[in-house]
Amino acid sequence: MAVLGIETSCDETAVALWDGRRLVQRLHSQIALHAAYGGVVPELAARDHVGRLNALTHAVLDEAGLSGAELQAVAYTAGPGLVGALLVGAAFAAGLAAGWRLPLVAVNHLEGHLLAPWLERPALELPLLALLVSGGHTLLVQVEAVGVYRLLGQTLDDAAGEAFDKTAKLLGLPYPGGPHLARLAERGRSGVFRLPRPMLDRPGLDFSFSGLKTAVATVLPPQPDPQARADLARAFEEAAVETLGRKCLRALKATATRRLVVAGGVGANQRLRQWLEGAAAERGFELHFPTPPLCTDNAAMIAHVGWLRRAEAMPAARGAAVRARWPLTELAPPTAAIRA
Ligand code: KG4
Ligand code: ZN
Repeated sequence: MAVLGIETSCDETAVALWDGRRLVQRLHSQIALHAAYGGVVPELAARDHVGRLNALTHAVLDEAGLSGAELQAVAYTAGPGLVGALLVGAAFAAGLAAGWRLPLVAVNHLEGHLLAPWLERPALELPLLALLVSGGHTLLVQVEAVGVYRLLGQTLDDAAGEAFDKTAKLLGLPYPGGPHLARLAERGRSGVFRLPRPMLDRPGLDFSFSGLKTAVATVLPPQPDPQARADLARAFEEAAVETLGRKCLRALKATATRRLVVAGGVGANQRLRQWLEGAAAERGFELHFPTPPLCTDNAAMIAHVGWLRRAEAMPAARGAAVRARWPLTELAPPTAAIRA
């Protein structure tokens, strides 16, 4: 029996279906809508979700060859995220659930990212360490079991993706900055600019990225030529990647864990992948990166958690609550058997 997942927490409208084996999904990115503003405009995001959800849902059901009433539950991203955008997805999901007489599952977006690796690697074993790096979060989490998350470290200021995006803006790159910066960095030379590795000289597993962005602003020439911009992009990317990577190694050691997964949009970064692959080969730990479309926002990860937590579904009429902030550490294990 399949669970439908609805994701609208930010600037992707996404719908997916997961039944424990088969995945069907559709996604619409709002990049073109927000590009003119240099970042996500929450009100525009919410209104655009309204117009997209219905067609995406029908496309998913058509491909799956199912009618709504044949599903087991409807899952939606309840938070964290932009409150207006979340409300659109929640109301849409509740409407579907009420119409099809299905129960509703509220999914935590961060748990979605965290457990996404299992969609491609069902045999991945626990416990493991997870680096969750997205536009809004930078977390090092010890995953003991589904729903049992111990927070080992987090950013004290900007998230990793936010640092990529803000630095990209400084370099005159369009939104969303992360992938653009990564592309520019490919043409950059290593070692031309030297940037700090924030907080690596201190013990602990927390991160800080706002100083790195400021360091870029400080060394950026007033009218940088294309090569200087590329060199600086390269220096930023190397500093961010090494900072993230070294903290992962420190966390693996501190917890005596031999398994690492990377989740969230910044997990799509090739240099981060290469850095960690090198470290894993050298030190002999197990490493898993989801494929890039499963790192960035998507509904597959929401349908997946909805399916794992389908026993917690509630009647649609009880309303579809959202939470702009919803820490991972407030979650508990699913009430029924895990990953049955
Ligand atoms: O997980 P995600 O899609 O959305 C959030 O929940 O935030 O992450 C988006 C973030 C953005 O900051 C984006 O610039 C960054 O992930 N990102 C990347 C890359 N692809 C996406 N950052 C660096 N390199 C990439 N290739
Ligand atoms: Zn996300």
